[in-house]
Amino acid sequence: MTATSERVAWLRSQIALHNNAYFVHDSPLIPDADYDELVRELRRLERADPSLVVPTSPSQTVGATPDSAFQPIRHSEAMLSLDNVFDESELRTWADRVARGLDLDAQSIAFAVEPKIDGLALSIHYDDGVLTWAATRGDGQTGEDVTANVRTVASVPPSIGRVAGGLDVRGEVFLEKDAFLGLNRLQRERAEREFANPRNAAAGSLRQKNPAVTAERALSFLAYQVVDPSNELGVTSQGALLARLAQVGFLVAADARVVVGVDAMVERSSWFESHRHDLSFDVDGVVIKVDEFSQRAQLGSTSRAPRWAIARKFPPEERTTRLLAIEVSIGRTGRATPYAVLEPVVVAGSTVSLATLHNADQVALKDVRPGDQVVVRKAGDVIPEVVGAVIDPAAARGAPWTFPSSCPDCGGALVRLGDERDIYCVNPNCPAQLLQQIVHFASRGALDIEGLGEQRAAQLIEAGLVSDVADLFGLDVARLEELEGLGTVSATALLAALERAKAQPLSRLLVALGIRHVGPVAARALAGWFRTYEEMVEAPLGELEAVDGVGPVIAASVFHFVRSPEVVERMTRLAGAGLTLVEPSSDELDQTLRGRAVVVTGAVPGFTRDEAEAAIVARGGTSPGTVSAKTYCVVVGEAPGASKLAKARTLAVTLVGADEFETLLSTGSWRTTIA
Ligand code: IVH
Repeated sequence: MTATSERVAWLRSQIALHNNAYFVHDSPLIPDADYDELVRELRRLERADPSLVVPTSPSQTVGATPDSAFQPIRHSEAMLSLDNVFDESELRTWADRVARGLDLDAQSIAFAVEPKIDGLALSIHYDDGVLTWAATRGDGQTGEDVTANVRTVASVPPSIGRVAGGLDVRGEVFLEKDAFLGLNRLQRERAEREFANPRNAAAGSLRQKNPAVTAERALSFLAYQVVDPSNELGVTSQGALLARLAQVGFLVAADARVVVGVDAMVERSSWFESHRHDLSFDVDGVVIKVDEFSQRAQLGSTSRAPRWAIARKFPPEERTTRLLAIEVSIGRTGRATPYAVLEPVVVAGSTVSLATLHNADQVALKDVRPGDQVVVRKAGDVIPEVVGAVIDPAAARGAPWTFPSSCPDCGGALVRLGDERDIYCVNPNCPAQLLQQIVHFASRGALDIEGLGEQRAAQLIEAGLVSDVADLFGLDVARLEELEGLGTVSATALLAALERAKAQPLSRLLVALGIRHVGPVAARALAGWFRTYEEMVEAPLGELEAVDGVGPVIAASVFHFVRSPEVVERMTRLAGAGLTLVEPSSDELDQTLRGRAVVVTGAVPGFTRDEAEAAIVARGGTSPGTVSAKTYCVVVGEAPGASKLAKARTLAVTLVGADEFETLLSTGSWRTTIA
């Protein structure tokens, strides 16, 4: 055997193994993206040397041989798979091939663009409009009889009206994200195994021996195809088909669109990519189909997939890589958080080399050890995390990781406090804690001191200029200039930013101090009630508890915090440095937004919806519920409304991130916008 044919044989055996795990046992061993990589390599080798291709190669077949636990059902017409492309240029190459096959200009072809739901394929057979059987895809020719289970799925109509003859409706069985979370909550309560993702949960739920179990699983079915040999439904295009399927009672993708021309098609497919997290179900890509059925017939299919459709896969949100080491970082409260140092890997479009491991219990639970292959996940804007280890039973593993007993920065003891699940460095003089305290003190939601980031703060500590946040206000140009990379201009700018910070309202200072349990909402409640720091310090515990929005936990935390000797000293120094320590009442606020309409969509961290609106109104603005050409700007929070964003983009209204909200309130403007 040559090296190539050996590699091909190995790839085929790996792919067969993973097909079996995924399709038969609903329990994949590796992320989809790693699997796609194996298939891509196999295809590349087969393309380079077509003599290697055999009909049983996974590049030529579909799915996996069905499980014998279910009765086999032969499909009336093969259930094919889809070929994949991974970026825009591959997508355009596919469209060009389609255009050549049809002898048309790619800009004149109509394409249907649909979400690629991450579920499992199902074919439902109707005779004279009545559901008679339903089967999984299986190997494409023969599937598993899951009729009894499918009858329990609410979005599968038991009859579709007066439609003569036999036809199959095909689509995807899936669980909405909320249903998935609910199911896993229930599994946890019942001390049963949780599902890794909605796809596995849907597959496991459909392939149940007992239909009663399927019935309690809130499965959905989304229809996207029919096998209708005598065209009983009377449609000739995908767009018309989806409309007809909806009419007879099926769920179809609300965001599916028919567009004309390759550019519009590419644009719509990118729309799905940027909105993938806004959908109520998991998608791993988009499916693009030639809209006209007559054109599809012209193009035909291979043994594995139609030539008239393609799946554009989104950048993977999960990949495997090697765990090089586990290290610990110290936060501003001294909390020690373990994190993974990884061999760099591209996940969701960016290179990841560090990922959080949350806490000691999580490391133990996941049992990840330096040297392991691990799965890394990064969804949307969230911090990358290590999901778990991929264990090769044949390979030796390193020893389980143990939490260090001393702080990596100051060498002090790391201790687990009482019933806390977290571990802390309890040395009050730990430089790592001080660094994070300064970074937090200067951050946007706190005193917003421009030019004082982590690097600068580290320099100040290193040079011995700052050992408490109060020292910041004693800095001068001469001393700052001595720091590397800090000329007169930036030194002066930093001092000006510090000067401005002195006038920040009390609520922002309370956030900056990093009092346990006191976030922006509680800080505003306290500052709004007491107006001055002095009043707050003098308040008895009962009065703190009585403040609207402040419960006993926050009250106790504040009560003890303000009495600790370091804090008393720090506050005396801050007051001496000229910090105002008062909360202006709303009639004293600068009318930075006078006459301006600011629309808020999604959640703004640190503000309830009412508070965000009130804050805008208190600065003279209005906060309407809809976007118009007169809108000054749209503040985009977490889980924003798709229609507001679309409207703002159409009307060219400025979009600003929620992290700009405080700046918007205090200055009436912003530093950065969202494209
Ligand atoms: S059309 C003959 N449309 O993705 C073509 N498939 O990776 C039939 N899928 O086997 C497929 N969403 O299980 C089509 N809107 C969609 C889809 C979709 C998800 C699944 C389907 C298919 C697999 C291919």
